[in-house]
Amino acid sequence: MAGRKGDGLAEASVEPYEHLLELDGLKVYFDTQDGVVKAVDGVSYKLNAGETIGVVGESGSGKSVTAMSIMGLVPMPPGRVQGGDVRFKGRSLLQMKEPELRAIRGNHIAMIFQDPLSSLNPVYRIGKQVGEGLMIHQGYSKKQALARAVELLDMVGIPNPAERARDYPHQFSGGMRQRAMIAMALACEPEVLIADEPTTALDVTIQAQILELMQGIQKEHGTAIIMITHDLGVVADMADRILVMYAGCPVEYGTTNQIFYGPTHPYTWGLMRSIPKRTLGDKKELTPIQGNPPSLIDLPPGCAFAPRCPYAKERCSAEKPVMQEVEEGHFSSCLFSGEQGFLQNSPIFDEDWGQRGGRAGGAADGGAAGGCGAGGAAGAAGGCGAGAAGGGRHD
Ligand SMILES: Nc1ncnc2c1ncn2[C@@H]1O[C@H](COP(=O)(O)OP(=O)(O)OP(=O)(O)O)[C@@H](O)[C@H]1O
Ligand code: SF4
Ligand SMILES: [Mg+2]
Repeated sequence: MAGRKGDGLAEASVEPYEHLLELDGLKVYFDTQDGVVKAVDGVSYKLNAGETIGVVGESGSGKSVTAMSIMGLVPMPPGRVQGGDVRFKGRSLLQMKEPELRAIRGNHIAMIFQDPLSSLNPVYRIGKQVGEGLMIHQGYSKKQALARAVELLDMVGIPNPAERARDYPHQFSGGMRQRAMIAMALACEPEVLIADEPTTALDVTIQAQILELMQGIQKEHGTAIIMITHDLGVVADMADRILVMYAGCPVEYGTTNQIFYGPTHPYTWGLMRSIPKRTLGDKKELTPIQGNPPSLIDLPPGCAFAPRCPYAKERCSAEKPVMQEVEEGHFSSCLFSGEQGFLQNSPIFDEDWGQRGGRAGGAADGGAAGGCGAGGAAGAAGGCGAGAAGGGRHD
């Protein structure tokens, strides 16, 4: 983005790059007293300007650690990068020295953190915190930064923003703090916005407003968005592509249409059956996945999902599945994803699927299932490497 002051990336000539952001087999482990936690174990994806990727998985699947690794915010130790790379505009963020990373963080790549209270400093006024990035990265004076902070607070729907900018975080409600976090993340008009469960604590109406706001910003500025959520429903109408993670590993990756109209991994099926039905008054609204995710210190041999998978066979406990391309741009790590008979178990054949997973008004990336990969699905997931292709939006 033009006009960023004190910015190594903008000032130095940068080699041509293929993708705005690229995760390439990223592995991040934590050394703990109980053993090595394999929090992120081989995550790959590519993201270009104006695109949205949805990263979906249950609690503890490695979504936040992946995001924190992009931001260079994983505490090391106990964390360490075991392998792979994260490249922004072709340059490794993992190799960068802290001052250079600091120039990128909050400026080119910004994050809405999962917990707004822990990310807002309780002793500073909201306005100061929202405008701080502009002073650090873009040479704004204190007065200019505060004026812009008020505009940003207004933009994210804080009433009486000039007045409320003088409040401290504890004077804001949970929803308002979330909005303040979003204003802070958007202040420098980042090229990549990482939104880590940005709407979890909010009621449904505010959730929808926040998602709409982010989409508006994306449209205006061509922002690339990484939307992290445990709820597939949240990304249904927003993401171009979806990465499903389980126990630190990608298990399915494809365009949003491919995932919603032709999911191939039993874990994705489970997440889909967990999407609440739209039918009002239905007491049996969702079917949660039985059991709990495994310890990341002691993963089961074979498929990590086997102990919970309703379709597991003997082979699953012995053989570790790897990501395979099941159709162009669509990858899955189930041993049976290629078998037509097996795919009949997909929730898209459930009687009540229309009330649950049908994507209202069609898809973000248009077209029928499987028809999107050719349009430039940007990259493969899960360290499988194959199928990486350049690409803009498919709309
Ligand atoms: N500093 C740390 N030390 C040890 N283990 C950690 C540390 N930070 C994260 N982990 C572990 O890494 C794994 C992945 O955590 P992560 O926060 O990425 O999960 P998540 O998918 O974001 O879950 P949630 O949906 O609950 O936010 C978890 O097992 C977590 O306990
Ligand atoms: S490999 Fe086996 S256990 Fe794993 S998801 Fe597929 S069927 Fe289930
Ligand atoms: Mg998290």
